[in-house]
Amino acid sequence: MIGCIQMLKCVYQLELFQTEWNNISLTDIAQKLDLNPDDVAAHHFYNEFYIQLKDNNYVIDSDWKIKKEQMTLLLKQKIDELSKYKRIKVLSIGAGLGLIELPLIIDGYDIELQECQAESFEYIKSQISIKEWITNDFSDLPADSYDLIYMSIVSYVFDLPTYKEVLKNCSRILKKGGKLIIWDPRCPNPIVYKTKTFIKHLLNFPRGVKWGWARSCSLHTALAEKAGFTEFGQCYRDENLKLIKAITIFCFVLSIKKAIYQEIVLEKSIE
Ligand SMILES: C[S@@+](CC[C@H](N)C(=O)[O-])C[C@H]1O[C@@H](n2cnc3c(N)ncnc32)[C@H](O)[C@@H]1O
Repeated sequence: MIGCIQMLKCVYQLELFQTEWNNISLTDIAQKLDLNPDDVAAHHFYNEFYIQLKDNNYVIDSDWKIKKEQMTLLLKQKIDELSKYKRIKVLSIGAGLGLIELPLIIDGYDIELQECQAESFEYIKSQISIKEWITNDFSDLPADSYDLIYMSIVSYVFDLPTYKEVLKNCSRILKKGGKLIIWDPRCPNPIVYKTKTFIKHLLNFPRGVKWGWARSCSLHTALAEKAGFTEFGQCYRDENLKLIKAITIFCFVLSIKKAIYQEIVLEKSIE
């Protein structure tokens, strides 16, 4: 019953499973590391993934690379809008290979990178020097230090208690009035998603490893508000990350084009 009420308020999350990423089998990684595929992939999992990607000479899916280039343009636009063209300090949480950030750091943007493992930064560090934070503990990061923090396809890794802590720390480490941007694949409609998952299960489709959680925009916002943020705006984006007109009615995102991504912008509340 409580679940149904929450769903009507669009406050819901769905478990995500994934079989491969950039042509690397995630199931094989779980087997190699002797991990339970029902435990969400954590730092040692990602560490092994990035080792395998390095062994493959960073051969990256071309579609995925294009998405990262589009993400760079979007990030540049966001930073320029927020900074009014003066230098602001930015933190990327869970930056991965740093592909989004690389061209902007080369252009002189002040972007620091955080990760839970060191392996993925090998790629960017072979090209430029970066300011990096390798930690799982966000309380290591200094208070009142950044104008903008963003998480690009990262928040899915955190279970709810961890995500609440991460958001509290984001509020702590942002300067007053600083912004937090969350980019995620659009959260699927729960009824459609659960039906599809059930059918795949009946057809014995491989489920892969537990990858994390997809969350509705309203859930991200509700959690962020508890952590000291106010909502600044949310929107949906198409496959080229272009803004699309969409409205959410209950759990349904109704849009002219199909929404692929969701974006939530939050502002640190001024106490
Ligand atoms: C899908 S990748 C996204 C990488 C990058 N932000 C992008 O958009 O290309 C998710 C990243 O989250 C990182 N990650 C996983 N757990 C994390 C944690 N507890 N803290 C920070 N990053 C984490 C993984 O190492 C991985 O690089």
